[in-house]
Amino acid sequence: MYYGGYPMDIRGIVSYARERKIRVLEDAAHAVGTLDDTGEWPGKYSDGAAFSFYATKNITSGEGGMFLTNDKDLEERVRILSLHGMDRDAWKRYELGNRYAYDVVALGYKYNMPDLTAALVMSQLAKLSTLQARRDRLARIYCDAFEGSNGIVPATQWPLRPARHSWCVFAIIVDDSCGVTRDSVITSLLGNGIGTSVHFPPTHLLASMRHLHTRPLPVTEWAAQRLVSLPLYPDMSDEDAHYVADSVCSAARRSTSRS
Ligand SMILES: Cc1ncc(COP(=O)(O)O)c(C=O)c1O
Repeated sequence: MYYGGYPMDIRGIVSYARERKIRVLEDAAHAVGTLDDTGEWPGKYSDGAAFSFYATKNITSGEGGMFLTNDKDLEERVRILSLHGMDRDAWKRYELGNRYAYDVVALGYKYNMPDLTAALVMSQLAKLSTLQARRDRLARIYCDAFEGSNGIVPATQWPLRPARHSWCVFAIIVDDSCGVTRDSVITSLLGNGIGTSVHFPPTHLLASMRHLHTRPLPVTEWAAQRLVSLPLYPDMSDEDAHYVADSVCSAARRSTSRS
């Protein structure tokens, strides 16, 4: 997956997988706006990439998503399975001159995006570069503010062009050198009127998954105890971002001065 929209080495992953005859599907939920080191969208080199348009994503229709693939057969299969297994959608059946007939060729799902929702996405896609530029600007303010700060480390780096980070999530790691816990930073930010999140609680520790937990995952658990996702959305002003960054730094400083 693209953590927060950070571009991964997808060509490396695909080449590793191809040698072993493994297919690659990308979780590109955070990656609307992400470009890889060849300047391409997710889905270009793999078998396909699934993007999310959920409310917390870079462009949104409230719910729904998009699947990109260069594989015609897979595209057809996804289309059919997402609409009850029907081989022809309403546009194909009802447009003037088209046949009414259809077949149900598979046991499918009701996973199709409603046309009204798709219209919302289309209008947002047209604004993607403006929205992305704003995210880039805010992320830059955060990165600059935390450079050389005591123990506050951005969880992902600024990639080299033509790669691009979508900055769907801007997460920091509250490192042990900070002398303060992640949760105390969260509490301190809350006191300044700043809401945060954590991406993600480790899957293997979730109630529904715990029974599958066969071995410890110390690196995952280390990160999950130190991550904080800061607010980042296009309507934020530069001043807002400076205020958040200053609040994070002073939460860390307070603890350093105490110790
Ligand atoms: C990494 C990741 N994958 C998949 C999803 C699921 O996306 P959706 O809610 O559009 O099904 C999310 C949703 O937040 C996500 O963060």
